[in-house]
Amino acid sequence: MSEEHVKQIEELERACFSAPWSEESLRAELSNPLALWLCAVSGETVLGYIGSEMVPDEADMMNLAVAGEARRQGIAQALLSGLLSELRKHGIVSLSLEVRESNLPARALYETNGFLQVGRRKNYYFNPREDALILRKEPLA
Ligand SMILES: CC(C)(COP(=O)(O)OP(=O)(O)OC[C@H]1O[C@@H](n2cnc3c(N)ncnc32)[C@H](O)[C@@H]1OP(=O)(O)O)[C@@H](O)C(=O)NCCC(=O)NCCS
Repeated sequence: MSEEHVKQIEELERACFSAPWSEESLRAELSNPLALWLCAVSGETVLGYIGSEMVPDEADMMNLAVAGEARRQGIAQALLSGLLSELRKHGIVSLSLEVRESNLPARALYETNGFLQVGRRKNYYFNPREDALILRKEPLA
C-alpha cells in the first residue's frame, strides 16, 4: 500500500464494514514500521487490500476486503497468500484475526488456508452486535 491507494481503500472500508477505518488512520499505517499492508490493483484502481500488524514473531490481520464487483476471482486468496509469504520473510510464525461469526465467505477462505478457531469474543462487533471468532494460523508455512 502506498499513499496513492489510501483514498480508495477508505472508500472500500466504508462500503464493506460497519466500523470503517478513517483515511487518517489508514495513512498512519504508511509510516508504522510494524504495519504490513498489500493492495490488489488493476491499473490505478484498487480492487482489494489486506492489512496486518507485526509484533516480534506474531502478526494480527486487521483488514481484508475486495470490491463487490471483483469478488470470486481469487483476489482475496492472492492477497492472503501474498501476506503469508511476506510475513514469513519477516520471521513471523503465527497470524491471528477476528471474523464475524456470520461471515461465511471469509470463514471459508480462512478455513481453506489452515486457520483454526482459538477463541471467541462475545459481542465484539456492533451494528449489528455479534460475536467475533478468533482464528489463528500457526505455523505460517
Ligand atoms: C471475504 C472476501 C474478502 C472474499 O474475497 P474474494 O476475492 O471474493 O475471495 P476469493 O475469490 O479469493 O475466494 C477465496 C475463497 O474464499 C471463499 N469464498 C469467497 N467468497 C465466498 C462466498 N461468497 N461464499 C462462500 N465462500 C466464499 C471460498 O473458499 C473461496 O475459494 P473458492 O473460490 O475456491 O471456492 C470478500 O467477500 C469481501 O471483501 N467481503 C467483505 C469484507 C469482509 O468480510 N472481509 C473479511 C473480514 S474478516
